[in-house]
Amino acid sequence: AHVWNGIIREYLDRMPFDESDTIVTLGEGGTPLVPAPSISKEVGASVFVKVEGMNPTGSFKDRGMTSAITQVVKDGDHTVVCASTGNTSASAAAYAAHAGLRCVVMIPQGKIAAGKMAQAIVHGAELVQVDGNFDECLDIVRELSQNYPIALVNSVNPYRLQGQKTAAFEIVDQLGDAPDIHMLPVGNAGNISAYWMGFKEALQHGDSTRLPKIWGVQAAGAAPFVAGHPIKDPETVATAIRIGKPASWDLAIAARDESGGWIRAVSDSQILNAQARLAADVGVFVEPASAAPIAGLLAAAALGEVPAGATITCTVTGNGLKDTATALAGREIEPTVIPVDTEAAAKVLGL
Ligand code: F0G
Repeated sequence: AHVWNGIIREYLDRMPFDESDTIVTLGEGGTPLVPAPSISKEVGASVFVKVEGMNPTGSFKDRGMTSAITQVVKDGDHTVVCASTGNTSASAAAYAAHAGLRCVVMIPQGKIAAGKMAQAIVHGAELVQVDGNFDECLDIVRELSQNYPIALVNSVNPYRLQGQKTAAFEIVDQLGDAPDIHMLPVGNAGNISAYWMGFKEALQHGDSTRLPKIWGVQAAGAAPFVAGHPIKDPETVATAIRIGKPASWDLAIAARDESGGWIRAVSDSQILNAQARLAADVGVFVEPASAAPIAGLLAAAALGEVPAGATITCTVTGNGLKDTATALAGREIEPTVIPVDTEAAAKVLGL
């Protein structure tokens, strides 16, 4: 059996590193591409989900963090910083811990999921809460990294996208070619940019014969690409993509337009319904932001805009366990308590 060695070693010929580099890895990548039969049936296409919540810290950020932190170590830097809606900070904290680096994370106060906060804390990051949103946190850390000896590991760091592009390589490897359409949530817009780069490189490399259309999905209250301009006070239940001023604006527009795709918005209730559907029908528990592409796909199908029989891959970016509070909100949970008695168990189950 092939033993997975993390994305840098697996795709070393297409990464900005070589054998002599000390690679900081937690074994990220190699995530499953899971078919979604009930959703496929509803939309009239072959739908697969790329389960990025299977990464070491539970999100796709680990692909970018192995390469960003490897470069930080190579440069001889000792402190890293990021702004985050939660997943980047969790990932940076873990990889920095592994590499023995100091890690500082700036997060929007009260607006990150509990699981992500726990990760930053247990991995030993220094947590700074900012009385502002993600965009404002990013402004601060960009200035900090320009003025002080502290390395920025947000996706404006080009090594991040180099790592994240490998998810597109894996999809091509798993399907045997590129899909017709690739869908993913769009927040700060690093990942959509990385996937487009990855699909283009896979074509150049001769692994695929075509390029997919890229369909990006934002939350309606945080949809600057749909508005065509930054949004001042973004708001959504999907806190991971509560972003109004995406850093990789031009790259995301290029991914959308060069691929002949689109970026649209879905409501918070569409997101939560898609999250519940994925968990109950496909067996994949994702965080709200990750359900946005599924919501967008169902909406496109309702408009009759999904090409019949198309192969569609959707990146589900983060693990549902990071934010159980949102997943359970609004559900009535009244566990039945029974005595230690098999008959009582059978009775309660109607057997
Ligand atoms: N999905 C999840 C679960 C995320 O955490 C993010 C971004 C995205 C989608 C959007 O990806 O920013 O590349 O367009 N989270 C960042 C963070 C901003 O700080 O963890 P993007």
